[in-house]
Amino acid sequence: MAFKKDFLWGGATAANQYEGGFAEDGKGLNAIDVLTNGSATEPRKVTWVRSDGTTGATPLEWGSDFELPAGARPALVDGYYYPSHTATDFYHHYEEDLKLMAEMGFKCYRLSLNWSRIFPNGDEETPNEAGLAFYDKIFDLCQQYGIEPLVTLSHYETPLGLINDYGGWKNRKLIKFFENYVRTVFTRYKGKVKYWLTFNEINAVDLAPYMGAGLLDSSLQSRAQAAHDQFVASALAVKLAHEIDKKMQVGMMLAYQPVYPYTCDPADQIKVMEYNQKMLFYADVQAGGCYPNYKLKEYEREGITLDISPEDHALLKDYPVDFISFSCYGSNVLTTHEKEAVDSGNLGINGIKNPYLETNAWGWATDPDCLRLALNVLWDRYHKPLWIVENGLGWSDELTSDGKVHDDYRIKYLKANIQSMKDAVNLDGVELLGYTMWGCIDLVSNGTGEMKKRYGFVYVERDDFGKGSLKRIPKDSFYWYQKVIASNGEDLTI
Ligand code: BG6
Repeated sequence: MAFKKDFLWGGATAANQYEGGFAEDGKGLNAIDVLTNGSATEPRKVTWVRSDGTTGATPLEWGSDFELPAGARPALVDGYYYPSHTATDFYHHYEEDLKLMAEMGFKCYRLSLNWSRIFPNGDEETPNEAGLAFYDKIFDLCQQYGIEPLVTLSHYETPLGLINDYGGWKNRKLIKFFENYVRTVFTRYKGKVKYWLTFNEINAVDLAPYMGAGLLDSSLQSRAQAAHDQFVASALAVKLAHEIDKKMQVGMMLAYQPVYPYTCDPADQIKVMEYNQKMLFYADVQAGGCYPNYKLKEYEREGITLDISPEDHALLKDYPVDFISFSCYGSNVLTTHEKEAVDSGNLGINGIKNPYLETNAWGWATDPDCLRLALNVLWDRYHKPLWIVENGLGWSDELTSDGKVHDDYRIKYLKANIQSMKDAVNLDGVELLGYTMWGCIDLVSNGTGEMKKRYGFVYVERDDFGKGSLKRIPKDSFYWYQKVIASNGEDLTI
């Protein structure tokens, strides 16, 4: 038997991609509410206005620099489509959706709180009661179904007021606003929610600074300060959780997937090592409690100065996270031999293509061994309990003439990935708390804003431009996952 009896099988969503109800019951705007739709070839855009009334939209791409024109403030602008506004409308379908999750046998459901539903501008002292009440209904239903919630405090949902009025996470004032928000929800949901995550994919501060940290520029100085402020805010969340309810556990959340060198040239190994440092820096601080030397050296070289106090150092040291969670969809390849990769036809839309692996239509490589590799790296380095909180396959599922979705490709992907995490537990002895498949009910893609890039066990009838009945239809993978959970991961047969 690989998995412990209380292994937390389930699925994951994020408010900004799933919830909708973007302006209902007093909710304010967040960073993603002003983000347009895009596609595999067309980036999403942040729409903005200037004080003279001029408007525009600036492309936002993961891994690329982002900077708004001088004087521009992110805002809603007429004539654009914003997928987060309705998303797949969990706000009005939560009863139906939680019932479907319960039918699959979920032990756990990862969701995020929409911060601006509770503090509409982000800097208020008192919360919006209607926002808090919405999540009460969710947690009460979860309790009824025996589903343990795993709650992300911020999944790219920085309130827009904190971006426009304070400049986002590079401003230390956000630490206080976050602390107030966290104290409010920890107190309110004490006894209902045991497991918390602070910032979704905290390394997005580096990879997508607007999304991860509400930054309107991507300078290294701003990213470094924003990351530091989020570290302090996270440590404060750990402190508060342990004070408010000893049973609460707070984890960090990292985007982490294995990266392979394209060749055995040592220069390629160095490139991979440096990339890993860039990614793992966040876990080094949040699990290890201090800044690693490689980062201090980098900041020294680049002339970065942090606003950091002795109290900050003490907080980081005294309140490391209780566990480490991460997202992992596949793997990537890096090289100093680009030409060789191009000549061999291995340059894909998402960088270097691994000739041993298949990719989906968005260029993401599916990798049957990614979870075992990632779990071992994180376990060996930190020795903290781990939790896979995102894994899955984005695919343009089609409804067939029988009114069903036959997603055998997803079942095949999940079978290999679950086997890989099973090996990490069985063969390597990694301590794993749970597995929540990403986008368990179809939702809007973060990277492209499309509906077409679907991950769910449940199909939601809605297209890329907001049309469709929002009807829920279980896919073939729904029944397969039901069997996997019922057998606690023993039966993976297709
Ligand atoms: C992770 C995010 O980066 O990947 C999710 O935490 C996101 O929000 C997921 O949806 C999959 O990415 P995408 O672009 O396919 O939606």
